[in-house]
Amino acid sequence: MKKSDIGVVGLGVMGSSLARNAESKGWSVSVYNRSSDKVDSFKQSFEEGRNFQSFKQLKRFVDSLERPRKIILMIKAGKPVDALIEKITPLLNKGDILIDGGNSYYKDTTRRVKKLKEKDIEYLGMGVSGGEIGALKGPSMMPGGSKKAWEESYEILESMAATDFSGKPCVSYLGNEGSGHLVKMVHNGIEYGIMQMLSEVYQILRKGYKLEPKVIGEMFRRFNEGKLESYLVEICEPILKEVDEKTGKPLVDIILDKAGQKGTGRWTARDALEYGVETSMISQAVHARVASAFKKKRLLLSKTYNFGEKNVSPETSLENMIPKLENCLYSAWIVVMDQGLRMIKDIAEEFEWEIDLKEVARVWQGGCIIRAKLLDDVYKNIKNDGLLESKWAEKNVEAGYDDWRDVLVEGLNLSVPTYVLSSGLASLINDVSAQTSANMIQAMRDYFGAHKYERTDSKEGEKFHNDWYEEN
Ligand code: 6PG
Repeated sequence: MKKSDIGVVGLGVMGSSLARNAESKGWSVSVYNRSSDKVDSFKQSFEEGRNFQSFKQLKRFVDSLERPRKIILMIKAGKPVDALIEKITPLLNKGDILIDGGNSYYKDTTRRVKKLKEKDIEYLGMGVSGGEIGALKGPSMMPGGSKKAWEESYEILESMAATDFSGKPCVSYLGNEGSGHLVKMVHNGIEYGIMQMLSEVYQILRKGYKLEPKVIGEMFRRFNEGKLESYLVEICEPILKEVDEKTGKPLVDIILDKAGQKGTGRWTARDALEYGVETSMISQAVHARVASAFKKKRLLLSKTYNFGEKNVSPETSLENMIPKLENCLYSAWIVVMDQGLRMIKDIAEEFEWEIDLKEVARVWQGGCIIRAKLLDDVYKNIKNDGLLESKWAEKNVEAGYDDWRDVLVEGLNLSVPTYVLSSGLASLINDVSAQTSANMIQAMRDYFGAHKYERTDSKEGEKFHNDWYEEN
């Protein structure tokens, strides 16, 4: 039997789609899955007349691959990845390549890259974004880890990837150790932020303006024809137009308002705090999902608390509000991108990884969940320090500022919890303010705990304590 160019372990939705993607680009592909029923159904559905070999035994799967072997792991992140590495490593030869395409935590990836290097196995941790359709037709891929592994496998990966605005593949070696999975984790954090702000806008219109979901869907369709063109805005229309077969009502009204999460957003928020990076929009999106889970409590308190019904204020007619929402979302989108990209830069610096933010913006232009027209401008304008420092961001964020504020005022007026839009504006105002309220915090810390403060008129780093209790 002729040896295959690449192997895929894990025939879940993402694994089988990636395997089919590679095969459709002319590569021969071996596949393996731990439970054999998935191998049988893959064989039955996809193997006939195609360049696949399916295996139920790991050793036979490994032996079927051309050397150096290139094996993409598409299995659940965490312990299953370590278990698989344990099982497969003795079957491999020096120089063989493992590519973890799951949503692994970047520090696990760093540990695996180092451990496998000792055994001369080349390990790439590769974020893959785009869901089932992306994996099949062309995902955005974010590899990091062994450079050698990238050099041996980039032709296959590039052929599988989506393309950016200039037609280049949305995959690039992003840096060593866990760089690729760090970028994917933050991608997901940004995804949380954008999804939450779109939901907040939906809620202002649904709850406040009492619009039918399909009418809101129509507005998102129009937004998608303008500067907000993006995958996440695009999917709002079909979602909001969907009718529930059982009740005949809009499906979105029937879906329970408890948001799930698998962990990448929470990791982003947690690590941002650990490394002292401000990603409040991402953190608030995680908080909003967490808070949504307490349905029983919300139901109970909604019966006892009464803030009074407020109506839409006369100056924000729907006609006036829609362009405001569009401008507000655009500015907020820039700020959440800035927060995410700064986090990548700061954590990369911590680990001495050289991640090029421009390249990150390019790789996100196609295939991934946060793909958006504005990534072209992000790519062209991103500075080493972040995005807000660019003239492009300044011009656009400034232009949307008043509308963003008006949206928040109306959101509050209508009792819509705008977790992300509110924190985004606070963060923006803070970032462009020469003076914050932190002097007051420092004074209080020094008052009760003698924690000391720096003075505006002394050398940086020089600390002072005031004798607050001294009698005058
Ligand atoms: C992607 C997605 C994908 C997935 C995550 C988020 O880039 O294709 O981010 O990785 O949707 O699992 O899921 P949660 O919302 O469940 O955390």
